[in-house]
Amino acid sequence: MKYDISVIPGDGVGPECVNGACTVLRAVEKRFAHTFNFHEYLAGGAAIDKFGVALPDETVKGVRNTDSLLLGAVGGPRWDKCETQRPEQALLGLRAELNVFANLRHVVLFNALKCACPLKDNIIEDGINIMIVRELTGGIYFGKSGKSADGSSAFDTEEYSVFEIERILNKAINVAKTRNKKITLVDKANVMESSRLWRRVAEKIFAQHKDIQIEYMYVDNAAMQLVRNPKQFDTIVTSNLFGDILSDEASQLAGSIGMVPSASLGEGGFGMYEPVHGSAPDIAGMNKVNPIATILSAAMMLRYSFNLDYEASAIDDAVTAMLDKTKFRTPDIATKESNIIGTDEMSRMIAQYVECC
Ligand code: NAD
Ligand code: IPM
Ligand code: MN
Repeated sequence: MKYDISVIPGDGVGPECVNGACTVLRAVEKRFAHTFNFHEYLAGGAAIDKFGVALPDETVKGVRNTDSLLLGAVGGPRWDKCETQRPEQALLGLRAELNVFANLRHVVLFNALKCACPLKDNIIEDGINIMIVRELTGGIYFGKSGKSADGSSAFDTEEYSVFEIERILNKAINVAKTRNKKITLVDKANVMESSRLWRRVAEKIFAQHKDIQIEYMYVDNAAMQLVRNPKQFDTIVTSNLFGDILSDEASQLAGSIGMVPSASLGEGGFGMYEPVHGSAPDIAGMNKVNPIATILSAAMMLRYSFNLDYEASAIDDAVTAMLDKTKFRTPDIATKESNIIGTDEMSRMIAQYVECC
C-alpha cells in the first residue's frame, strides 16, 4: 500500500528525532513492501525564520492533503522573546485546524529500562503501562485570555462544552476497551466548575458502559499517586492542561521523556504523531537526543491511521529487542553498564531490527 505522510521536523532536536523515525519507517517499507511518501513542511521557529509566521497556510493545506502528520518538536529560547509569533502557536494551530481533539500518550516502562526508572522495584513490580488520554483542542489552551492595558493583570480561561467532554470520554472508553477497562478521570472538581461539568457528563456516559470501571481523582492526588502507586492506573482521561503536566511527570515512569510517544486523533483516520517531549534546546544538534519516543510515535501512526497493526508491532518489537539484547543506550536512559551511542546509531540499529526480525 501507498501512504502520504506529512513531516514537520521543527526546531531543536526535532529534525534529529524525525530523521530517526523516517529511517525506521524506511525499514518498514523494505520489509513489508509498502510505500511511504514523505512531504516535508515548515512550522514553528523554522517557519518564523523563513516566512515570519509560525504556521504558514501552505503547511496546513499541504498537511490536509496527506494521510497523517509526523512532527518532531517546535520552540526554543531563540524565539521566546517574539511578541507576535511564537513557535508553540504552530502546534496549537495544527491541533485545532486538524481537529485532533484526543491525544493518546502511552507511558510504558520497557523491561530492560527498569533501572532507568527512578521508582523502586517493589513499586514497579512487573512493569508500567498507562495510557493518558489528554483533551487537546479545548480548555484553558484555547479559552479567552488577555491582559489589562497597563499590564498589571492577565487572565486565561478554562471552558469546556458538553460536546467536547462527551467526545473525549467516548474516545477514552474506546481506548480502555482495548486495555484493562479501567478509567481514571482526573480533574479538580472540588474547586472548578468546568471539572464538575466533566463529572456530570461522565456519570451519564459511564452509566451506559457498565463493563468499564470508572474512578474519579483530583489532579493533585493523581500527581502524587503516579509516583506512589502507578500500577493502579490503566487509562487516565483528563483536560488539556492537566494532561500536559501529568504526562511529563509520568514520562519518568518510562525512564525518560525520550521514551513516550503520542497520537493525536480526531473522528476520522487522520492523525498527528509526535513525541511528548519538546525541542530540548540544551542537547540540540549534538546527536544525543533519544529518538525512541518519535520512533514509537511512528508506530502509533501505522496502528491508528493506517491500520497496520502488524507493522506497528514490528517497530515496538524492534525497540524491545534493541533494549533487551544490547547495552547500547542514549545518555538519558544509560546506566553505568551501558554503552552510550548517539541518536543516529540508535535509530539505525532499531531500523535493522525492524528489517531482519
Ligand atoms: P523539553 O521536553 O524540550 O526538555 C526537557 C528536558 O528533557 C531537557 O533537559 C531535555 O534535554 C530533556 N529531553 C527532552 N527530550 C529528550 C529526549 N528525547 N532525549 C533526551 N533528553 C530529552 O522541555 P522544555 O525544556 O520545557 O522545552 C523546550 C522547548 O520545547 C520550549 O520552547 C517548549 O515550548 C518546547 N516544547 C515543544 C513541544 C512540542 O513541540 N511538542 C513539547 C514540549 C515543549
Ligand atoms: C506538549 C507541549 C505543548 C503543550 C506546548 C509546546 C504548546 O508542552 O505537546 O506537551 O503544552 O501542549
Ligand atoms: Mn508538554
